[in-house]
Amino acid sequence: MSALAHPLRGPIAAPSILSADFTRLGSELAIVDPARDWVHCDIMDSRFVPNLTFGPLVVAAARRVTPAFLDVHLMVERPETMLRAFRDAGADQITVHLEACWDPGAVLAAVRATGARAGLAIKPGTPFAAAERWLDAIDLLLVMTVEPGFGGQSFMPAMLDKVRAAREARTRAGSAFLIGVDGGIAPDTAPGCRAAGADAFVAGNAVFAQPDPAAALAALRAAFGG
Ligand code: DX5
Ligand code: ZN
Repeated sequence: MSALAHPLRGPIAAPSILSADFTRLGSELAIVDPARDWVHCDIMDSRFVPNLTFGPLVVAAARRVTPAFLDVHLMVERPETMLRAFRDAGADQITVHLEACWDPGAVLAAVRATGARAGLAIKPGTPFAAAERWLDAIDLLLVMTVEPGFGGQSFMPAMLDKVRAAREARTRAGSAFLIGVDGGIAPDTAPGCRAAGADAFVAGNAVFAQPDPAAALAALRAAFGG
């Protein structure tokens, strides 16, 4: 790990390696600026979501090629069984889905007990109110702006109301958690998310599926004013 300070205040770009070329993860991640960006890792178990991606070995590989903040998004059932493995692999933040937790408070406390920052993600069909009682236990609320499971889907504008509700609740409570958006985030959708209150912008296709990923990442940062 580097001694460099990771960005913990928005706006932050979080390129998702789901859309990267895994045969050359090192050069793909060379576009990330560890002082400004996070690296987002999408873990899918073919149960909580229909897709299956990768586990701690690939997170550890990412850890070896970048000192950037590793933001691990667990789209899995029983996330509490995997926290230690992902933390040991190098995760700086571990986000679990509210819908996957029988006891969200216990799981979020277990994330923090590993030393990682704790994120709570909510699917498009889950109202913000369902997450509200755990706001003191989280460092990130990740508002899914597509149905989780696949990259390259279209942004759901109706989720902006949820981002606004989260921002209002944060102000009311005087809390410090960040608000993230994930799914269909690109230079055309990021400004509306920023205006609604988003701090972290996860983007797979809009970065790694572009002909010049470094330029695409710069365009994304410019779009949200980063
Ligand atoms: C979707 C994942 C996303 C995904 C976003 O289930 O959680 O993080 O990588 O991909 P894009 O930016 O292509 O929509
Ligand atoms: Zn994700």
